[in-house]
Amino acid sequence: MNIEKFWKNKNVLITGISGFVGSNLAKNLSKNGANVFGITQKKRKKNSLLYYEKIDKKVKVIFGNITNKKLLQKIIKKNKIQICFHLAAQVEVGAAKNKPFETWESNIKGTYTLLEVFRENNKDIKSIIVASSDKAYGEHGIKKMPYKENYNLIPTFPYDTSKACADMIAKCYSSDIFNLPIIITRFSNIYGPGQLNFTALIPGLIKSCIFKKKFIMRGNGKSIRDFIYIDDIVDLYKLLSKNLFKNPNKYSGEVFNAGTNTPYKTSYILKKIFLYKKRKKELMDIIKKLKNKKTSGELSVQFMDFKKLYKYFKWKPKYKFEKTLPSLFNWYEDYFNYSKK
Ligand SMILES: NC(=O)c1ccc[n+]([C@@H]2O[C@H](COP(=O)([O-])OP(=O)(O)OC[C@H]3O[C@@H](n4cnc5c(N)ncnc54)[C@H](O)[C@@H]3O)[C@@H](O)[C@H]2O)c1
Repeated sequence: MNIEKFWKNKNVLITGISGFVGSNLAKNLSKNGANVFGITQKKRKKNSLLYYEKIDKKVKVIFGNITNKKLLQKIIKKNKIQICFHLAAQVEVGAAKNKPFETWESNIKGTYTLLEVFRENNKDIKSIIVASSDKAYGEHGIKKMPYKENYNLIPTFPYDTSKACADMIAKCYSSDIFNLPIIITRFSNIYGPGQLNFTALIPGLIKSCIFKKKFIMRGNGKSIRDFIYIDDIVDLYKLLSKNLFKNPNKYSGEVFNAGTNTPYKTSYILKKIFLYKKRKKELMDIIKKLKNKKTSGELSVQFMDFKKLYKYFKWKPKYKFEKTLPSLFNWYEDYFNYSKK
């Protein structure tokens, strides 16, 4: 890994640090010499890459709720936070449907509480990245794909709505009214080592292969999605944050999509993973069941390109789904061995 001087001794706050993206980012930034602070909910503690790869020893993890304004004030003031990645969110789509209140609290209230604390204490802060999502766009139909950053946000599902609200609140705080240095990111599905939300497609399929357990597809396999590898996302977050830090007037208020511009049917992902592990018979059983299945509660087609990112920064993703499978399986196999101990 190339060490980037920029990050040395920068005071960085990562909300949701024990989550999938947060722990990968913390790993990279701590190697780059940043002083990394993170806030996260206690109940997620055990099953995180942060602990599995002992990154927690190199960063300062604070347990608490992102809606706790006093706690955020304390963290931000005391540690003179200069850079923030706001990743904390309730991300499970099913949980958002069953318990919407908790999703609104974490995803919407959590965002305005954090940004409000930065507004009130804006001496040190130079760069805030707010993680929105491709889900914030809502259903635009196949003809309008890939999404463009200037599309309206028209979500209906609860998780998607919560992300769109957070996205709009972030945009407001970046405006002339509040003048906070903010970039909003809308990324497609991220996958890779450390993703332990097994309701998500790729980790769910991998887990089912490793334990030779039955897999039930949430949809009917016809939904179209885009999957981007975590190392691409970590690189991109750093690139955006650094540029915003150096040139807030140019970049604040900008929104960036990122995906690989490769639309995959979810059944293709199923096939690739099951065939990689030689589970042909189980695959056929699942495909048979998918034939008559109707899907509801999910967007039918979503994918992203990286045109704007390429135009601004010459950025493009490096990893291709098919090529990441061997190392991904290795990581999960090691992880499950560790978590059994
Ligand atoms: N993973 C993806 O495919 C993807 C794609 C696009 C956008 N995003 C966005 O990226 C961000 C990170 O996603 P992830 O996959 O790492 O999710 P994750 O569930 O792995 O991590 C979320 C983290 O937020 C924390 N958190 C949740 N509610 C909290 C609260 N009220 N107070 C404090 N901490 C709280 C959790 O403890 C966890 O550490 C999210 O905002 C998500 O919406 C993710």
